[in-house]
Amino acid sequence: MLVSAKEMLDKAKAGHYAVGQFNINNLEWTKAILLTAQECNSPVILGVSEGAGKYMTGFKTVADMVKAMIDELNITVPVALHLDHGTYEGCYKCIKAGFSSIMFDGSHYPIEENVAKTRELVAVSHALGLSIEAEVGSIGGEEDGVVGAGECADPNECKMIADLGVDMLAAGIGNIHGKYPANWQGLSFETLDAIQQLTGTMPLVLHGGTGIPAEMIKKAIDLGVSKINVNTECQLAFAEATREYVEAGKDQQGKGYDPRKLLAPGFEAIKATVKEKMELFGSIDRA
Ligand code: 13P
Repeated sequence: MLVSAKEMLDKAKAGHYAVGQFNINNLEWTKAILLTAQECNSPVILGVSEGAGKYMTGFKTVADMVKAMIDELNITVPVALHLDHGTYEGCYKCIKAGFSSIMFDGSHYPIEENVAKTRELVAVSHALGLSIEAEVGSIGGEEDGVVGAGECADPNECKMIADLGVDMLAAGIGNIHGKYPANWQGLSFETLDAIQQLTGTMPLVLHGGTGIPAEMIKKAIDLGVSKINVNTECQLAFAEATREYVEAGKDQQGKGYDPRKLLAPGFEAIKATVKEKMELFGSIDRA
């Protein structure tokens, strides 16, 4: 069922667990994540960056594929189709294409401009029944061309954006997209706690979910994180499983070169990664 992310995240916040956002890149990714969510009886958010949307030939292709797949696979758990780190223009494109949720990442604008653009997009998305995520501070590292310095969010600015009525708020708390460097300082729980104190029941979003140790994830959930984004970890799992298949020469045995066989180990690896995250985030049987 394609739904806005609002209800699933409000429930997660109240129930002290988190819903995973898993980024999709193609049909295999989408199918693996949807089937795992259904098997785990877990709500799920499919994240689509602007780069991934372009790769899949456009947001309309993505929305139509996801809706058709939910129907053909009889997926009954709540699924939100969400734009990840959207630009102002990208948000409008996804609204038109039939997404059920958007993220407007105005974190690189001065706060006044972030507020003005977020306010406008809150009104538009809510009028159409979509949920909306906004961002304050920045997520370090790079994801599909979106580069962030990784500065921690100012809790007062978080409150300003939360007060606009967004459904979820991403705040930089020392998190980074991609692999964490060996000298990473860890998440700033002090910042997270201050943000949570000021934003109350607002579901908070933790980007850069790849490689964050389990204890830190649990503590972040305790401090109000209700949505956790994972992208790189599925890519690494897919690449490793595919490499093993090819290095074992399996693509050269029988019809092992058939894409349905060649991509199968990677597909299973994504499923295992998503299941592991759903267990850690506590979203199993919360559909
Ligand atoms: P990772 O690639 O580090 O898991 O981050 C995903 C993310 O935050 C998507 O916005």
